[in-house]
Amino acid sequence: MRLVVTGLTGQVVSALVELGADCADLVVLPVGRPQLDLAEPTDVEGVLRGLRPDAVVSAAAYTAVDRAETESDLAMQVNGTGAGAVAATAAALGVPVLHLSTDYVFDGANPAPYVETDPVAPMSAYGRSKLAGERAMAAAHPDHAILRTSWVYAAEGKNFLRTMLRLAADRPEVSVVADQQGAPSYAPDIAVAVVQVARNLLAESTRHNLRGVFHMSGGGETTWAGFAEEIFRQSAARGGPTATVRPISTADYPTPAARPANSRLDCTKLKAAHAVALPEWREALARCMDRLKEQGALTR
Ligand SMILES: NC(=O)c1ccc[n+]([C@@H]2O[C@H](COP(=O)([O-])OP(=O)(O)OC[C@H]3O[C@@H](n4cnc5c(N)ncnc54)[C@H](OP(=O)(O)O)[C@@H]3O)[C@@H](O)[C@H]2O)c1
Repeated sequence: MRLVVTGLTGQVVSALVELGADCADLVVLPVGRPQLDLAEPTDVEGVLRGLRPDAVVSAAAYTAVDRAETESDLAMQVNGTGAGAVAATAAALGVPVLHLSTDYVFDGANPAPYVETDPVAPMSAYGRSKLAGERAMAAAHPDHAILRTSWVYAAEGKNFLRTMLRLAADRPEVSVVADQQGAPSYAPDIAVAVVQVARNLLAESTRHNLRGVFHMSGGGETTWAGFAEEIFRQSAARGGPTATVRPISTADYPTPAARPANSRLDCTKLKAAHAVALPEWREALARCMDRLKEQGALTR
């Protein structure tokens, strides 16, 4: 299977490239700037057609959630219009498209984990741009799987885990919000899931229940403070940096973009339709920590 993935150095695209290197029957072809700039999606079809994909994964996005509040046009261009152009190209090529989306399409007011049919109500410019991308995808190409994930991290890249380890290296206590709930999702696990969904779409080109919107987060749930505590516990167990977590409220940590208090995604639909479920978040974190230790990146 030839998977063309948008983006070059992103967490999910990097994990897909690594997975491709390990699988004999999987070729992962990342494509990004300057060849493909979703802020100016001029010749998306020409670029993607040349790579002869069996399926396209739309993993590139403007992901600077706070900065998007002041760059909302750019976020909308990349995440809305750009994603739509990728879907239109997949339609023109007659191949399925898989699109990464986010829990931030919700306002977090739901008391229970969100299901796919719950009403969307993004609280931020980033969330609005990602919702526009979902809608552009669905409008451009019926053969799509929109995969909403949350709290993505990896051993490389810009993410909460790496921020926590950096902070712990030079301070004994870190304040972390304890009133936002969700589930961390490990990029290599997302990559495995994306590949399986792509295989399913290709194997069953007309099965309606494999298409549409799906929730896809790490198993279980926690808060950002709970995630930080587990990061420090697992880091300490491997001789890495550790700190005490001081739980604070969202009100104590104002950010330009509002974030949902409840980011929990019910992933039942993905499991039922695609037989795909991301591993439990603590177990995934342990694999990431082992990798950091192997890399010599867990130093006090
Ligand atoms: N990170 C999270 O916590 C999170 C949570 C929920 C959903 N998601 C979604 O999951 C997907 C993957 O996220 P991620 O964490 O892997 O993202 P990431 O690490 O921030 O990487 C973003 C990728 O998008 C590419 N990109 C940005 N602007 C672009 C443009 N104008 N043209 C072409 N490519 C552009 C970047 O390109 P370069 O390689 O050139 O830098 C990079 O490869 C995204 O759709 C994101 O919205 C992420």
